[in-house]
Amino acid sequence: MRFFIDTANLEQIRQARDLGILDGVTTNPSLMAHENIHGHAAIMAHYRQICEMVDGDVSAEVFSTDLDGMLAEAHELSAIHKNIVVKVPCTTEGIKAIKALSARKIPTNCTLVFNAGQAVLAAKAGARYVSPFVGRLDDASEDGVALVAQIVRIFDIYGYQTQVLAASIRHTRHIIDCMEAGAHVVTCPLQPILGLLNHPLTEKGLAKFLEDAAKMK
Ligand code: G3P
Repeated sequence: MRFFIDTANLEQIRQARDLGILDGVTTNPSLMAHENIHGHAAIMAHYRQICEMVDGDVSAEVFSTDLDGMLAEAHELSAIHKNIVVKVPCTTEGIKAIKALSARKIPTNCTLVFNAGQAVLAAKAGARYVSPFVGRLDDASEDGVALVAQIVRIFDIYGYQTQVLAASIRHTRHIIDCMEAGAHVVTCPLQPILGLLNHPLTEKGLAKFLEDAAKMK
């Protein structure tokens, strides 16, 4: 299981990295906009900064919706750093772009995936990752974790090497459930990751140990 942090916030990335469990980063236009970054040069510089902080895949999403635009952006993003994985939306043009980029050995992460059909087409096109949006499916009264499990099963049946990167993770339970579903990677905000650590019985037990240790001084 690999943990990516789903943010463009440098401080949160730093905190996750310093925990020693961070394997990569995913961003998207909304997460980048949240950091109040303006202008093309600043956007590129921000991706570079993230890549220099984390020794792992960093997803940077194209803004274009047409094939030529996606390919042009992908080449520029890929040139930023060896860690860049180009994020491409799961659309007709996106699948074409993934196919073309795969032929050029540029790694891609197919995002905004909401069913197994989308995931299979992205895998056939050669995506390194597919990103099923667990939280947004749950928001729509569907079962996001069940989709992760279904994609994992189908990929196993046909031997696709594309990795299932569970995204739109909203809380710690999603992480556990996606691990049980066989996701290769989970990308989430810092808090759900920290939530894996926190348990009141651990804190209570440690307090008792320290209380008893003090008696031996
Ligand atoms: O990587 C996708 C993720 O950022 C979407 O999360 O909470 O906006 O559905 P959310």
